[in-house]
Amino acid sequence: MTLVPSARLLGAARAGGRALPAFNVITLEHAEAVVEAAEAAGAPLLLQVSQNAVAHHGGRLAPLAAALAALARATPVPLGLHLDHVTDRDLLREAPGAGFGSVMYDGSRLPYAANVAATADAVAFGHAHGLLVESELGRVGGKPGDAHLPGVRTDPGEAASFVRATRVDALAVAVGSSHAMTERSAVLDHPLIGRLRAAAGVPLVLHGSSGVPDEELRRAVAAGMTKINFGTALNTALTAAVRARLAATPPERVDPRPWLAEGRAAMRAAVEHLLGVLATARHGTAARG
Ligand code: G3H
Ligand code: ZN
Repeated sequence: MTLVPSARLLGAARAGGRALPAFNVITLEHAEAVVEAAEAAGAPLLLQVSQNAVAHHGGRLAPLAAALAALARATPVPLGLHLDHVTDRDLLREAPGAGFGSVMYDGSRLPYAANVAATADAVAFGHAHGLLVESELGRVGGKPGDAHLPGVRTDPGEAASFVRATRVDALAVAVGSSHAMTERSAVLDHPLIGRLRAAAGVPLVLHGSSGVPDEELRRAVAAGMTKINFGTALNTALTAAVRARLAATPPERVDPRPWLAEGRAAMRAAVEHLLGVLATARHGTAARG
């Protein structure tokens, strides 16, 4: 029975000078892979569902959320549920009743003033319903319909004003990563992470972490990142394993379980690797507190 509030997991990570890993899941196999890896590593983490994943399931949040909550309740490792990259107000309102302890409201495509207003509104709703609320300032880029925005960075002064004006609990910042990268080649601006951490006063969140190499991830945590989001890493592992298995499968074999199992095992291995990287990563002295 260890479905726990996201705030407790993020608070414990911050107090321990660690980063909380967060994995985006799309199918039940994704979730099973993440939970198996969490159990093997004994690592608390967040299971995340994005608005795009909800769209994949016909706009229905409840069935996948119920499955994730059931998996979390059945494991001894503390796990939380997080609703990710939400722009739809109706979906946001479903989060508390569906077992989520946190949401990321994504106003990053809005102009600054509109982002502040929309995020403050989401925070008011979230806090009234016991949710931790994360938001984004500065456009990480790389989501469908986005141009990649490699040059965009979050400004520390703006981050401080944004947090004050919105009362948001955690802040996703643009520091050099980009969503949906299948090569791990991102180079992060570590001094900027340190300045943002000092200015924002709330836990910082790294998005697009699948494209960030292991050592860059460790350095990002040392500089002050407290929540690290992975999604594409799982999909890369899943798709490669399924593609290889199907290429070697005669066409009359139609049982999906062998290739789904192989895809799930590949995702578990990818998650275990990333948990291993973050297990040894600690905030540096300047990033503590
Ligand atoms: O919010 C989710 C993450 O930012 C995942 O990004 O798929 O590039 O790892 P990624
Ligand atoms: Zn993201």
